[in-house]
Amino acid sequence: MFKLATGFATLAVLIQLVAGQSQVWGQCGGIGWTGATTCVAGSVCTKSNDYYSQCIPGAAAPSSAPPASTPVSVPPSQPSGSSGGLANIPASKLTQFSNFGTNPNNVQMFVYKPKNVAANPPLIVASHYCSGTAQAYFTGSKFAQLAETYGYVVIFPSSPHSGTCWDVSSDETLMHDGGSDSLSIANAARFAISNWGVDPNRVFAVGTSSGAMMTSVLAGAYPDIFKAGIVDSGVAFGCFAVPGQPEDSWNSQCSEGQLVLTGQQWAQKVKNAFPGFTGTYPKMQVWHGTADTTLYPQNFFEEVKQWTTIFNYPSTPLSNVTQTNLGSNYHNATFGPNFQAILATGVGHTVPLFEQQYLQFLGIA
Ligand SMILES: *[C@@H]1O[C@H](CO)[C@@H](O)[C@H](O)[C@H]1NC(C)=O
Ligand SMILES: *[C@@H]1O[C@H](CO)[C@@H](O)[C@H](O)[C@H]1NC(C)=O
Repeated sequence: MFKLATGFATLAVLIQLVAGQSQVWGQCGGIGWTGATTCVAGSVCTKSNDYYSQCIPGAAAPSSAPPASTPVSVPPSQPSGSSGGLANIPASKLTQFSNFGTNPNNVQMFVYKPKNVAANPPLIVASHYCSGTAQAYFTGSKFAQLAETYGYVVIFPSSPHSGTCWDVSSDETLMHDGGSDSLSIANAARFAISNWGVDPNRVFAVGTSSGAMMTSVLAGAYPDIFKAGIVDSGVAFGCFAVPGQPEDSWNSQCSEGQLVLTGQQWAQKVKNAFPGFTGTYPKMQVWHGTADTTLYPQNFFEEVKQWTTIFNYPSTPLSNVTQTNLGSNYHNATFGPNFQAILATGVGHTVPLFEQQYLQFLGIA
């Protein structure tokens, strides 16, 4: 244990010394951050909150004026999704839609429909990181590009909160049909099922950082809607809870990996979110870096306890292999068909996206 921890710390220091610049999506500042404060070419260090700045790909957006507030593509006069089916949505273009149901915080919702949509297409809901937007996650990921190959539909929600983290802390968001951001996203997915012919058995959630935490929230509170979740550098469901406090509160006990519970306690948080649910919980794939100082790597092991308990899997993996196709530092632990946990040694916040691997896990690719 001691040797392992020392090894990680040494490796993290080495990587910072060698790199000098943070990778795309990597951390580049924040309270307690001792790593690189500049970003590799093609990305810009963007503050999301006092604890966290991140290298965002693409053109520089002054942090005082994030692209968040500018609705993309569709002028208000154009028909929104409420006017009908997928046919009314322009192809291969990020398009805002509205009137998808109760939307307490006015989460902006965007859809990407590929040129060739599969029959009864799968739906992927892709939630961005703090400081991100639907537009930024759309351009900074391959989810839309790969939709052109596989014919699925993507929803990119955009956070309404200052700093654009998601509300993953309030009583409302952590409760099935309780309100706040998770309800808006759930309602958008419900809308897609009812109006766009999306296959209800292939509705998936993916996300990075705050979007990863939202993905855990969706998996725990809306297991009736989401059939699988991919959590890139997030936390266990309920870990960020700050009961009775304003929506979108920061929980440093959780972020620093100090909320250590038993599997039973973690599973109970999931169960409490939707007491009437008797179905199967979404299959989950979680990714985390051991050098993550925004959401400390202990959160990975808390996620492992939570989902292995939910699925009634043994606490030790069936297999844990070095996934050399991803890199010699990626350790893929499989606990059963519904749960995989990938730990990336020496990788910080956040683990780079592996969209093709996600699609395999979701049964799309
Ligand atoms: C998988 O193996 C790696 C490398 O030994 C280890 O660091 C990691 O904790 C293991 N994963 C799990 C979930 O036990
Ligand atoms: C992890 O290992 C399982 C079992 O070998 C495999 O099916 C899966 O594709 C692997 N996951 C990744 C991300 O490589």
